[in-house]
Amino acid sequence: MDSFNIAVFASGNGSNLQSLLETKKLNNEDSIDVSVVFSNKLDAYALKRAEKNNIPFFSVNPASFENREKFDAAVLDKLKTFNFDLIVLAGYMRILSKEFLREFEGKIINLHPSLLPKYPGLNTHQKVVDNKDSHHGATVHFVDEGLDTGQIIGFSKFKIKEYEIHHLEAKVHEIEHKLLPLICSLIKNKRLKFKNNVLEIDNIEYPDGKEFNF
Ligand code: GRF
Repeated sequence: MDSFNIAVFASGNGSNLQSLLETKKLNNEDSIDVSVVFSNKLDAYALKRAEKNNIPFFSVNPASFENREKFDAAVLDKLKTFNFDLIVLAGYMRILSKEFLREFEGKIINLHPSLLPKYPGLNTHQKVVDNKDSHHGATVHFVDEGLDTGQIIGFSKFKIKEYEIHHLEAKVHEIEHKLLPLICSLIKNKRLKFKNNVLEIDNIEYPDGKEFNF
């Protein structure tokens, strides 16, 4: 099989990066190769995880640049020295410039802690509590120029039993750690395509993304 490498962008703990790294143990077609990890935070634990797993990593500090475009251009320069087929935003807390998005059109996916299109942006768990929603979950989508608006690939939800932020956050993480590796594997194994602009997974149409139950 052709090699398939992923560049992971993360700003914090990187538990989702870890879930991708764990797939190596499967040693089958669902194993994901992470070729580089990038963070906008020098102290992100995600970088430590990369180091521990002998994965190349780098960080660029946004404060050293005048604007988003210049920062992204510096990231791009460095990123291009690595081989990758897909960029995965796994807890990357910065908006990408239009130039960056254009460069990798259709090749960037994001993991979001809500059932999109509900609650794009920040503080999703709080919003779920405030609105006493019956369900919560996580979504993986392609990144476009909007805020968490790109084509949804897949999502997974759970019924809320306890309206407490830390509890909800933990439940969402649990789901994310299954959903993200699964979707990366679908992309790697070319099980995902667009026919007349409609998303298909294993030749079945999913205009609004596929639901996964774990
Ligand atoms: C995840 O909940 C992700 O959905 C959100 O940020 C969190 C990152 O968690 N965008 P981690 O750094 O992967 O542990």
